[in-house]
Amino acid sequence: MPSSLAPYIGTATSRVDGHAKVTGGAKYAGEFNTPGLVYGAVVTSTIAKGHIARIDVSSALRVQGVLDILTHEHRPHMAAKSEAYKDDVGPEEGKPFRPLYDDKIVFSGQPIALVVAEEWEIARFAASLVRVEYTKQKSVTDLQAAREKAFTVKKPEKPRGKADKAYAAADVRHEADYFIPSEFHNPMELYASTAIWEGGGKLTVHDKTQGVQNVQRYLCSVFGMKPDDVRVMSAFMGGGFGSGLRPQYQVALAVLAARALERSVRLVLTRQQMYGLGYRPATIEHLALGAKQGGTLDAVIHEAIAATSQYEDFSRNDTAWSGQLYKSPNAKYVHRLARLDLPTPSDMRAPGAATGVHGLECAMDELAVALKLDPLELRLRCYSDRDQNEDKPFTSKKLRECYRQGAEAFGWDKRNPDPRSMRDSSELVGWGMATGIWEALQMETAVRIVLTANGHAEVASAFSDIGTGTYTIIAQVTADVLGLPLDNVTVKLADSTLPQAPVEGGSWTAASVSNAIANTAEAVRKELLRLAKKLPDSPLASAKLEDTALIGGKIVDKKAPEKAVLIADAMRHGGLDRIEREAKTNFKENKKYACNTHSAIFAEVKIDEEIGVIRVTRVVSAVAAGRILNTKTAHSQIMGAVVGGIGMALHEETLVDHAFGRVMNANIAEYHVAVNADIHDIKVIFVDEPDDIINPLGIKGVGEIGIVGVAAAIANAVYHATGKRVRDLPITLDKLQR
Ligand code: MOS
Repeated sequence: MPSSLAPYIGTATSRVDGHAKVTGGAKYAGEFNTPGLVYGAVVTSTIAKGHIARIDVSSALRVQGVLDILTHEHRPHMAAKSEAYKDDVGPEEGKPFRPLYDDKIVFSGQPIALVVAEEWEIARFAASLVRVEYTKQKSVTDLQAAREKAFTVKKPEKPRGKADKAYAAADVRHEADYFIPSEFHNPMELYASTAIWEGGGKLTVHDKTQGVQNVQRYLCSVFGMKPDDVRVMSAFMGGGFGSGLRPQYQVALAVLAARALERSVRLVLTRQQMYGLGYRPATIEHLALGAKQGGTLDAVIHEAIAATSQYEDFSRNDTAWSGQLYKSPNAKYVHRLARLDLPTPSDMRAPGAATGVHGLECAMDELAVALKLDPLELRLRCYSDRDQNEDKPFTSKKLRECYRQGAEAFGWDKRNPDPRSMRDSSELVGWGMATGIWEALQMETAVRIVLTANGHAEVASAFSDIGTGTYTIIAQVTADVLGLPLDNVTVKLADSTLPQAPVEGGSWTAASVSNAIANTAEAVRKELLRLAKKLPDSPLASAKLEDTALIGGKIVDKKAPEKAVLIADAMRHGGLDRIEREAKTNFKENKKYACNTHSAIFAEVKIDEEIGVIRVTRVVSAVAAGRILNTKTAHSQIMGAVVGGIGMALHEETLVDHAFGRVMNANIAEYHVAVNADIHDIKVIFVDEPDDIINPLGIKGVGEIGIVGVAAAIANAVYHATGKRVRDLPITLDKLQR
């Protein structure tokens, strides 16, 4: 699409939903009111493994205002686990958790009862009166202790060459374990669902989810409902980070209660209860890198050992990035899982890459030190223009440009390579860098456009906007392809009745939905051209569809722009006041190319030498991610992801008391995330990366790429500042003092 026809794509457009959000007009899942609404409160298990021997709800039931208490012994029917549909993003192996299904306890914090009452406070109070006796079994929740028992997961990534032999023979070797603790998503919005009882067994469910149609299918299968009987909506989300990819237990419970009572039910989990759902699994990244004296890799061995639950095998690609990113004739990957008595992990902010590339990029820094090479120079000597794993070219890869522009903006050439060599009065200064890589995915997506003769368009798709700016980019793309002002476009999203879309995740939404809009707009334009040709003495009588565009309310022959017909005239003459079309993406699977986004991250830390307090004073993230649709929202996504990376490097850590198998810091006072005081100067650069292979609009998607490598750049900067290598995250001051 020529850029002259695209006044909105590529610009810094403010959020079209911004006004609704800051004025409270945007309603979140737990905010919908309806007459007769009742409230749920969850009772959770206090043991990690065993069975419920007895559950006594009698005193809770006596509380005035309590309507019912659902347990595994007292609840409406749910399909057997083996019969039920597995959600789109659930692990292949195992059976998903189902709340109140039976007496078995598989993790601490498991929901075991739902109190439903006229008021939320009453429900919550009554929940505290439910008495439970357990038969307890010994639980295991420590990944390090379970490491030896981990089993190998079959992964498609092929090894190449003879990695072990090459590693043993290498001039310079580096081998180490890097540990990433389990991390929780902690979006601002709590997990919430409001199930509105519409009568006759029909429900409208407002759910905090990244995939309304996935939740709809899940509910239909678990409760034996027909798709027409349950509509799922999630118009706004207060953050997702992957936490809303799978249907979460609160939606099953809200629907269970609505069906039991035939009333509308709101269920909002507490912050503490959110630590009983998915999370980034604790992972040990074992890296062994063998290099030639000149700074080229001979062997890459990457083994990941990650936690999973007792009932599902969750794993993501942690390891294969290592041999994809850098040139090495020999590479080998192993992924192992340790079964722990915890909930199944879930996708979280670049799952697999955030952890695996962290290990790789710390190891590359250590290798650079061993080789006495600048860490950026090592990356350049190992640079690969081809995907090493599949031996194929990339649709585009401007990583070299990321390194160049990032290093220049940061001032990398002024770095003294010696650790502890740079100071700012009482603080040690460290400069570190790392590479990031993520997949540029795209998924089949359908879009509906309704164009009315008054020059207004409504565009609709079932995608969610998890807060990243989907509403806005959809409005921009639609305005451009229909040649309308932005204000004339209405976006409808996140409603299961809308045209089919996958869960919003994997950074695939922008590419998928934008190309679907372009296809749908072409169908609209085809109809408009047909109508325009019927006008008396039509200037477009001989125009071909591919030569036309919609610009400024007209259908125009691009080859002869004076030949144009007003859209309103064409529609009026054709007797139409609306044109409605629905079309899908038509991505062909492209096996010839690798599709990835890349980044280079440069970080500066300042560390108080006396007490070890670390400040991340500067970060430059240079990103190559194809065409950037909205420089403002994309910039915000990368900045947010860098903040997540700072949290990962210095703060985030789930502490489990292994004697009880229970998260000790299940709150955002003690589970630390980066806050404003931790954030200083973050500069985001989007490197120009034209790509006419990946899809017609050249879009790759941003978001997840922003976190990959950030923690490694910071860890490497900490080493440069202090000469001390901390290989387990988060890098807290006690670890620096040790
Ligand atoms: Mo993302 S972890 O696919 O929401």
